[in-house]
Amino acid sequence: MTALIGLGTYLPPREVTNAELAARFDTSDEWITARTGIRTRRWADPGTATGDLAVAAGERALKSAGLGPGDVDAVVLATTTPDHPCPATAPDVAARLGLGHVAAYDIAAVCSGFLYALAVGHGQIAAGQARRVLVIGAETYSTILDPADRTTGVIFGDGAGAVVLAAEPETGRPGALLGVDLGSDGALRDLIRIPAGGSRLPARDGAAADRYFTMQGTKVFQQAVVRMGDSATALLERIGWRRDEVDHLVGHQANVRILAALARYLKIPAERAVVNLDRVGNTSAASIPLALADAAAQGRFAVGDRVLMTAFGGGLTWASAAITWPDIHPC
Ligand code: COA
Repeated sequence: MTALIGLGTYLPPREVTNAELAARFDTSDEWITARTGIRTRRWADPGTATGDLAVAAGERALKSAGLGPGDVDAVVLATTTPDHPCPATAPDVAARLGLGHVAAYDIAAVCSGFLYALAVGHGQIAAGQARRVLVIGAETYSTILDPADRTTGVIFGDGAGAVVLAAEPETGRPGALLGVDLGSDGALRDLIRIPAGGSRLPARDGAAADRYFTMQGTKVFQQAVVRMGDSATALLERIGWRRDEVDHLVGHQANVRILAALARYLKIPAERAVVNLDRVGNTSAASIPLALADAAAQGRFAVGDRVLMTAFGGGLTWASAAITWPDIHPC
C-alpha cells in the first residue's frame, strides 16, 4: 500500500489583487469575483522560476514527513512552466534538495499534473522501485500569460505544493492512497494550449502572441465539470465509497462556479467542497496540494476523513485520487 506521510507548500510573497488587475485590463473586481470567485493571487517576482517554488515546497514536505537527504528515492515534478524547455526541472530540484542521484523527472498533464504525478509515484512504490517518492506540483503561470488577454490574466496564480508518498505495510492506516483514475481526450487538445515553442511550431517561427497560454474558457468550463465528475464517479465505484461517505471534495481550483457545479453533478453537498481559489487563483499543477494544505490549516480535516481529489486540464487530461487523511503536520 502507498500512504501520504508529508505535505508542504510555498506561495511567492507578491500578492496581485483584482484591483491591481482592473488597473491593467478592461475588467473589474466585481466581474472577476462574480464569474470566477477569485479575489487575489500570488505572482512570483521576475527572476523567480518554478524550480525555486518547487524546492521551497519540497523542503517543507520533507520536513512535514520528518525526512532528510537519503530518505527519498524519486522526485516527480508536475508542471506546465518548467525552468527550461530542456532539461526537465525535477533533477535540478532533487539536487538542490540534496537528495543525491535519485530518479527525477517532470510530468506534463497541465492542471491534472499533480494527480498524474501522484499516480506515477504510487506506481513506482507499488512496483517496488521506490520506498518514498517526493511528488511536487509547481507553477509560475505569470511567466506565460499574455499581457493583452484579460481572461487568462485574471485567473492564474503561482505557487507550489508537495507531498511525500511512502510504502506502507499496514493496510487501512490513515493516509492510505486507495486508488487513482486517469484519462485524456487529445481530440480536444486545442481548448488549452501554448501554440508555439514546441516542434509543431518552433518558437523561432511563431508570432510573439503564439508563445502565450491560450484557452477557450466556456468550453473548458463545460468539459471540466463532466470530466472531473465522471472520473471521480468511476473511482468511487472502483474503491467502494458511496458519495455520502466522501467527507471532503478537493476539486481543481479553476473557478468557484466549476466547483459548485461539480458538487451538484456528484450529488455531494457543496459545503464538503474545499475552496481556496479566492486567495490563490488557478495554480494549475499546484492547485490540489495547495487546497489540501489550506483545508488542513483551517482544521477541516480529521485523521481518517475520506478525501476525494479530482482535477482537469489541458490535453485534455483529467485525474482523480482518493485518500484517507493522514496524521501529519503540513508545513
Ligand atoms: N473581465 C471582464 N469580462 C471578461 C473577462 C474579464 N477578465 N474575461 C472574459 N470576459 C468576457 C468575455 O470577453 C466574454 O464577453 P462576450 O460575451 O462579450 O464575448 C464574457 O466575459 C464571457 O463570460 P461568461 O459569459 O461569464 O463566460 P463563462 O461563464 O464561461 O466564464 C471564464 C468565463 C473564463 C471565467 C470561465 O469560462 C472559466 O473559468 N473557464 C475555465 C477556465 C480555466 O480554469 N481554465 C484552466 C484550465 S483548468
